Amino acid sequence: MNKKQALLEQIKADIIKNNICPDLAREAKNLVMGDGNIDTDIILIGEAPGKNEDEQGLPFVGAAGKFLSQMLADADIARSDVYITNIVKYRPPNNRDPLPEEKSAFWPYLVRQLDVIQPKIVVTLGRHSMEYFLPEQKISMVHGQPKRITFGDTKLVVVPLYHPAAALYNGGMRTTLIEDFMKLPKIIDILNHEKENE
Ligand code: URA
Repeated sequence: MNKKQALLEQIKADIIKNNICPDLAREAKNLVMGDGNIDTDIILIGEAPGKNEDEQGLPFVGAAGKFLSQMLADADIARSDVYITNIVKYRPPNNRDPLPEEKSAFWPYLVRQLDVIQPKIVVTLGRHSMEYFLPEQKISMVHGQPKRITFGDTKLVVVPLYHPAAALYNGGMRTTLIEDFMKLPKIIDILNHEKENE
């Protein structure tokens, strides 16, 4: 196990040791930490695991996950090249929205994941993860628009997108989300050029 993997394992162990959201933990089958390339420049952050994610212990593996995989493929981004996680790591009962106290309980652990992975681009999926990176913003106003932020000591680009589950069966939002996803390659290109010119 390399250093990054060990640090990520430690975060998982700390969530268990610190008994984060015991009510959710009691009902959940799995703690869903995240999946993908831990050396990536791009991290996607959803809301919380659903039924399928809880069963498999992996994020975005149900219907919304299939839609997400398709949009990544259409944007020419391999799912295995990015890292995918959620703000809340246990499934809320009956897929209800995560509560503010659940999001804030898990937030420090997401910050630690970001600290280990050190992405350049954070794609927030839905308002629950967006609100922590772009407080005071409305997703309907800013979706698809890359925003530069300073996060701790690092500079990040946040790309707020609609949540794939919300867009799945909503024609207008679905089209918007697909269009927004197609902006990602250009954003990645611009950042890579900036890196080369540094
Ligand atoms: N919705 C999310 O926000 N996350 C998942 O992992 C699955 C569905």
